[in-house]
Amino acid sequence: MSGNKLLNVMLISALTVLFFGVNVEPAFGNYDPEPMKYSAYLMAYFSGEDAPDGGVWGLRYAYSKDARNWKALNNGKPVFNAKAWLRDPFIKRVKGKFHMVHTKGMEYPTIFHWESTDLINWRGGEIDVVPPSKIKTWAPEFFYVESEDLFYVYWASDYDGHHTMHFVTTKDWTDITPERSKVYYDIGIHDIDLTIVEHDGTYYGFHKPGAYEDFMGNRLSVSKSLHPDKVTFGQDGPGKVVFHDSAKGGTEGPEVIKLIGQDKWYIYGDPFEAPLEAWETTDFVKYTKIPVTTPKGAKHCSMVPITQKELEMLLAEYPNTQNTQNKLVINADDGKQKINRFIYGHFAEHLGRCIYDGIWVGEDSPIPNTRGIRNDVVKALKHIKAPIVRWPGGCFADTYHWKDGIGPRQNRPTTINKPWGGVKESNHFGTHEFMDFCEQVGCEPYFCGNVGDGTAEEFSDWVEYTTSDGDGPMANLRRKNGRDKPWKIKYWAIGNEQGGRDYALTYLRFEPYLKEYSGNKVYSVACGPVNLDYDWTELVMKMVGEHMDGLALHNYSWSGERSQSAVNFEEDDWFFLLRRSFRMEEHIEKCIGIMDKYDPEKSIELLVDEWGAWHEEVVPGRNPSDCYQQNTLRDAMVAGIHFNIFHRHLDRIHMANIAQTVNVIQAMILTEGEKMLLTPTYHVFDMYKVHQDATYLPSKLECGIYTHAAAKTYTMSEESRDRPFLEKLGPLYDIPTLTATASRDDAGKIHISICNINPNEGATVQCEIRGAQFKRVSGSILTAPKMNTHNTFENPDALKPEKFEGTKLEGDKLIIKMPSKSIVALELS
Ligand code: AHR
Repeated sequence: MSGNKLLNVMLISALTVLFFGVNVEPAFGNYDPEPMKYSAYLMAYFSGEDAPDGGVWGLRYAYSKDARNWKALNNGKPVFNAKAWLRDPFIKRVKGKFHMVHTKGMEYPTIFHWESTDLINWRGGEIDVVPPSKIKTWAPEFFYVESEDLFYVYWASDYDGHHTMHFVTTKDWTDITPERSKVYYDIGIHDIDLTIVEHDGTYYGFHKPGAYEDFMGNRLSVSKSLHPDKVTFGQDGPGKVVFHDSAKGGTEGPEVIKLIGQDKWYIYGDPFEAPLEAWETTDFVKYTKIPVTTPKGAKHCSMVPITQKELEMLLAEYPNTQNTQNKLVINADDGKQKINRFIYGHFAEHLGRCIYDGIWVGEDSPIPNTRGIRNDVVKALKHIKAPIVRWPGGCFADTYHWKDGIGPRQNRPTTINKPWGGVKESNHFGTHEFMDFCEQVGCEPYFCGNVGDGTAEEFSDWVEYTTSDGDGPMANLRRKNGRDKPWKIKYWAIGNEQGGRDYALTYLRFEPYLKEYSGNKVYSVACGPVNLDYDWTELVMKMVGEHMDGLALHNYSWSGERSQSAVNFEEDDWFFLLRRSFRMEEHIEKCIGIMDKYDPEKSIELLVDEWGAWHEEVVPGRNPSDCYQQNTLRDAMVAGIHFNIFHRHLDRIHMANIAQTVNVIQAMILTEGEKMLLTPTYHVFDMYKVHQDATYLPSKLECGIYTHAAAKTYTMSEESRDRPFLEKLGPLYDIPTLTATASRDDAGKIHISICNINPNEGATVQCEIRGAQFKRVSGSILTAPKMNTHNTFENPDALKPEKFEGTKLEGDKLIIKMPSKSIVALELS
């Protein structure tokens, strides 16, 4: 809290009663009638003994986007008058202002009332509500009844030997006196912690009857009116048990929050010595327990919906300074390995509209093209220095007969794309067209041979056709088809995802036909464990290790535990998908572990030749077998996470190929007729291209953890794509808030790329660069207000890199201030 504010609070709290002007704004009631303008929630709480600062009672704040996953502000420390014995803070917005009431302590006949317009600056003070003989005033709250323009203020005080709910009404909080306050209702035993919510003309009162040792839990009473003559709270004795976790010994301090824009409420309860718990209801009849993450030590909370602007002001006023502990140390004097540019490789399959529409439109198309290949797509891929493209599949490769795709196009047969929807395959894009495409882009080709329904002879012929300068039948056929000189084609995969024991034998049968013609050096790839089949990896390494140059691994980041939509998702989905992406590292390490066993010299390289975020949603108006999906900031984050992982395993990883280049799965580019857009993923490839062939600089990153309530209760369905994955990788875990990587290019410039995964909070990173001097820092940033921001054909630049201004030099440290959900690329020279 600033000095001024503290003074303000202290001065005002010295007064016993404060008078405020009459409000002329329209009455709102406890819950705002325009809920859609809110987009977050604030929790006010006090803390028990296990608070981060040792448990001084005091007002603390946390915020949430879903009212379930709460993150403390100000590192969980008090935000307001820490010296006051503040317990049981209760905040609601009424008539455009926030009102807060709270107790002073356990044994005082007073409460406090404050008003604020921003939740930061408060005016108010102490109010005597009962005579000193009553001593206790516990858990005060209020409910504003709009039709009466009246606040009902209520709390628990001693009465007839037990705690009973008392109340007073007020219009403006200036006329409250001990004489005016009365017993509200009496159930004959202790009763405390009443909280009231109204729905459809009924008031629901949650409260905690019974003494501490009775463990009666929170209960519900119902009333049609709050007026003391008509209120029916207490008439059914201690009320109805709606939830009670007796295993934990009881629950008190209920709080109800209505979800923004929904007829759904969460009821929080405070088990005495355990984290807050919550139940969900849509009708105040059935209550289902839900998982929540609440700040450590939080007790007796209250909640209020807030706007994004209010949240941003609170985050600025009460930052979690632990963010400044984010530390990145880059060892610029310890760079040994090159980052192979092929890590930024691509994969283009005859699948959906990747090849046809996406790359190939034909020479007669009105879409600008060069020999049938889209100029806009070629230009975009050149710009990101696409280094290599794997083709023609994927699953398609093991059904592809290359001879169907050579010779005059009008003579080529129309076949069926068996793996991808049985659609017609014109074969107009074949070997010559693919090689033309690679030459136009300036990238290397990576062929995948058919070991599915293809023969070894067919495979052998393809190698000869494409790479031999001799006088053999295949080289002559190529010449006849217009290409005199052979191409240089180094990379050849022996099939795709064949799996099973037989693959080792298949590989051994086909691999000898991968001949080196006319000085063309070949590189053979065994492809690759499917569904994290480590037994397969073990077997293939053992049986054919000596015969391969590279082992391919495929691993997708599936979404879909809740939503399979690429665009319509919530924070749970963001968390799950990004956590899934982080687990690519475990998968790589497991594979490398097996490879190390059979190839300790590391002569066999690892190619992650299919990776990406796969949402599998059925997009209206699209053929499901086209695997077409939109691409948001979340997918961009998936790309950043993957690159940073790949860089950490350069001693094995030689290549990685995102699936896929255009219009399919995690695409770089989307096309629609003559229109083309660049996806957020494309922009990450653009921002990271500086790392291609640069020297990797080892670094150490210390940062916070990003977690989510759903992580704790995540149960996999039988059909879950994650099942084999997670079962093999072991228990679930939270993910780091940040991931980073660094390199030095040939010109000596240092490049740093950092992703802030947290969709809610910015991060300040202290960066130390050891063993290098620099004078200039420039950078770009990819971020957006929403997790699902994406580019459309109507608005193709909704998300693109912008200039980044968030760096500052402090001594020899570079301070980087990143907003939430952002990817930053810095250049130091
Ligand atoms: O990229 C789509 C498909 O995913 C590929 O064809 C196949 O190899 C993988 O299963």
